[in-house]
Amino acid sequence: MDGKKIVKKGYNVIVEEYLATRTEDSEDVQLLWELVQRLPKGTKILDAGCGAGMPVTRFLSRLFEVTGVDFAENQIQLARKLVPQARFFCQDMTKLTFPDHSFNAICSYYAIIHIPRQEHRKLLLNFHRMLKTSGFVLLCMGANDITDDTDENYCGARMYWSHYDADTNIKMIKECGFKVIWSKIVVDSTYPKAKHLFVLAQKI
Ligand SMILES: C[S@@+](CC[C@H](N)C(=O)[O-])C[C@H]1O[C@@H](n2cnc3c(N)ncnc32)[C@H](O)[C@@H]1O
Repeated sequence: MDGKKIVKKGYNVIVEEYLATRTEDSEDVQLLWELVQRLPKGTKILDAGCGAGMPVTRFLSRLFEVTGVDFAENQIQLARKLVPQARFFCQDMTKLTFPDHSFNAICSYYAIIHIPRQEHRKLLLNFHRMLKTSGFVLLCMGANDITDDTDENYCGARMYWSHYDADTNIKMIKECGFKVIWSKIVVDSTYPKAKHLFVLAQKI
């Protein structure tokens, strides 16, 4: 199964449908304040798997210089319209080649869970490389163990998920060179049966 192909195709189709599920007052988005308060104004942030840029990229762009990356062309096209103050790249976030120490923080909401989990460690190591000394990550990762899961009708498209459980993810984040500041399980505001692990961590 080519999980990435399913995800890219799916998010290119469900641009409006997915956007309609996202709100700024939800618990997950409010967690951004925890990151914001630790960063000086004008800081450089990467939003990996930014989708249409709402609400996360827009929230961060009010205070910081934000770079959004997503591999679904239609998501990026809309993000450029909705958040004109940010810069966007249409790329696979597992293959990013920004120079070492490019960002003060990297944020990734609901994207890592769509990447085949055997790639997660390499992704975290690359985030670590691209962060400045003592930089932060705010990551949404899996709360439970899923190898390869698909849904034939997620907001109207076929979709794919793959992730480790919360304890494995926290251990992996530490092994990749981060100090965990806090971790929290957040219930999905649209699908209450789904839970996600949010982690704020700092590069050591
Ligand atoms: C559930 S949406 C989340 C969008 C946004 N972060 C938010 O909080 O609303 C997941 C996004 O991650 C993107 N994505 C998934 N895997 C990716 C990859 N390997 N590289 C780049 N983007 C990816 C999808 O295209 C999609 O736009």
